[in-house]
Amino acid sequence: MTHLTELYELISHISELSNSSDTHKQAIPPITQHACEPQQFASLLSLLLQEGQQHQRLDWAAHMTSPISHAALMGQIVNQLHNGNLLSPELYPVLADIEHSTVSWLSELFEQPYGHMTAGSSYGNLEALWQAKQASTRRTVYASTSTHYSIHKACQLLDLELVEIPCNSVQQLDIEALEIACQQQPPLAIVANAGTSAFGAFDPIEACVNIAKQYQAWCHIDAAWGGGLKLLPEYAPHFGCKLSQVDSLCFDPHKAWGQPKPSSFLFYRQPTSLIFDANYLQQPPQGQLHGSRGGEACLPLWLTLQTQGIKGLTQWCRNAITEAQSLADTLQEKTNWVVYPQQSGIVCFQCSVDLTPLIQQGILSLVQHESGPIYRCVFIGESVSSKAVTTQLQPYF
Ligand SMILES: Cc1ncc(COP(=O)(O)O)c(C=O)c1O
Repeated sequence: MTHLTELYELISHISELSNSSDTHKQAIPPITQHACEPQQFASLLSLLLQEGQQHQRLDWAAHMTSPISHAALMGQIVNQLHNGNLLSPELYPVLADIEHSTVSWLSELFEQPYGHMTAGSSYGNLEALWQAKQASTRRTVYASTSTHYSIHKACQLLDLELVEIPCNSVQQLDIEALEIACQQQPPLAIVANAGTSAFGAFDPIEACVNIAKQYQAWCHIDAAWGGGLKLLPEYAPHFGCKLSQVDSLCFDPHKAWGQPKPSSFLFYRQPTSLIFDANYLQQPPQGQLHGSRGGEACLPLWLTLQTQGIKGLTQWCRNAITEAQSLADTLQEKTNWVVYPQQSGIVCFQCSVDLTPLIQQGILSLVQHESGPIYRCVFIGESVSSKAVTTQLQPYF
């Protein structure tokens, strides 16, 4: 216990080390034949800690990157010290139990009985389409124009043809256009988004499931960003009542749940049809893309759940939505900017003012869109505050 207390104190100390927002790029030393001086080593660590400190800012809303909680950080450190490989779970019964407990809880949340970690949802999307390809001889994949670029990469890698379906005015996949496309060319798979990267939009998931069923296509949900909102009962309509009928779903706790990377999972309705053998392992590995793994995806999340409870994590997610809506309301009220409806904690708006300085400070990001450039603020848990972002935007109102 003393060790854990000391570790906690050390972590608190590191996170309080510097409030400097000095983002000037400084030169790092080259790799040479010789060890560096201790002083140089210390200043390099301090430089890195200062850079990471930016995530602590309440106006850090440019991307899906939040500070991580003490419990999650402790999980990450303990995981590095443990350094087990769960390809041999019989050697690490405690870690294996924690992984099992975490995956089971998530499986229940997403109504998908089979699941495992991935190294990020780019891998999750690739693996899901890889599985889909095993089940069909078709080649066409339908996804909206707002789908993440990892779907494009996956289709290229798997030699599948991605056809983009247009979106409606709030950036959701146009279900009528999908229906027409399916009539003309029945697909291998339909990919629906639960929270797009740019606008945070939810596609009509239930309708996508119905169409996929009608055309015997695989239905994959990319819930990398928006999946965390499954905790909130008020978001149930966004996921629809057919989640248990989707074929696969990926989710990244390292986005909206503020976990360290990689904390990412892929779930299936049915066990994977891919079987591989490895003659040096006691248990045959599952047919998944990932090889060696420790507790990196599970342990920080499990410790977060132990220390905050599901209730605490739920409140953390709800807070992001409240703060995001508060910023959207303020912009509607105080400016004549075009504000997009906030769907999953991302606030997007268009204005004629140049906000480049705020992009450089990590306060917002820029989305290139067919209607022109759009600014975007991402709210995660309690790490971003509407008030802090408004303070930065106010001079431009
Ligand atoms: C909707 C969506 N899907 C997939 C990904 C890819 O996730 P990762 O960066 O963890 O590979 C992202 C990344 O931002 C995303 O927003």
